[in-house]
Amino acid sequence: MNDFGAPAVLVVGGTSGIGLATVLKLAAAGRPAIAAARDETKLAAVAEIARDKDLPISCHHVDASSAESVDALFRDLADVPILGCVNTAGRNLSRRLIAPPSAPEGDWREHTEREWQDVIGLCLTGTFLVGRAAARTWAGQGRGGVLVTIASSTWQGSWGQSAYAAAKAGVVSLTRSWALELADFGIRVVCVAPGVVDGRALRDKAAARPAHADYMERLRQGIPLRRFASEDEVVASVLHALDNEYLTGTVLEVHGGGFPNRIV
Ligand SMILES: NC(=O)c1ccc[n+]([C@@H]2O[C@H](COP(=O)([O-])OP(=O)(O)OC[C@H]3O[C@@H](n4cnc5c(N)ncnc54)[C@H](OP(=O)(O)O)[C@@H]3O)[C@@H](O)[C@H]2O)c1
Repeated sequence: MNDFGAPAVLVVGGTSGIGLATVLKLAAAGRPAIAAARDETKLAAVAEIARDKDLPISCHHVDASSAESVDALFRDLADVPILGCVNTAGRNLSRRLIAPPSAPEGDWREHTEREWQDVIGLCLTGTFLVGRAAARTWAGQGRGGVLVTIASSTWQGSWGQSAYAAAKAGVVSLTRSWALELADFGIRVVCVAPGVVDGRALRDKAAARPAHADYMERLRQGIPLRRFASEDEVVASVLHALDNEYLTGTVLEVHGGGFPNRIV
């Protein structure tokens, strides 16, 4: 049992954005949460919030794109009952497959092979590594669990972010395959696919690049509800995925009616 006396939800990528919002929402409801990520400063900041507000949160280091690191995290948590694992670790990258040599340095340069590998390595391979470790743990302990994967509306194809979109399509596919394979172990697998989320990452990006702010405004106008999702609206679907025991192998789209796949 953990220090909090109740099973926990592990949130990989739980120190920022949707992951942090999930951790805080769970903990505020008295549900123990484990925030795992790479950056020690962010981990320390979450630990400080937990101390200050007396919330049932513990923090652990992990690099979700490294099998060694993910397996070490689950080994460290071997004695902690974990009822759910939410993997929010991911990174978007705006790049084109090809771009004219005259294209300005900026968001829509060509993908380098290295950038492709980095995006796939975290968003897709990371999902595989975390999913495998969670499933092994639950199956080994003879208990069920729920794995929540995070895709993105881009999974259906998106101009200017093909590596990210391909990785997220892979996340949807893993979710559906694993739901079939893991049902007999009492393990559910549910994917949450947000559209555009009005979080710090989006605001920082828009502030740093006025042309990007204009692009985001056109993107917003292409969404039927004419606004981005709040982090809390995405977290509501994550909690639904964790708690609704009849959900598995499905994708909860949180996109305000549809994602505009081509804004140029
Ligand atoms: N924001 C959106 O508009 C949006 C839309 C659709 C889908 N999504 C998806 O939702 C998820 C969360 O997005 P977000 O905007 O909330 O992200 P965010 O604010 O950038 O937070 C990402 C979190 O993942 C962690 N992380 C990054 N790389 C990691 C690694 N290699 N190993 C472990 N942890 C790592 C970060 O911590 P460290 O810095 O410590 O690594 C941080 O805690 C992502 O999968 C993203 O693709 C986001």
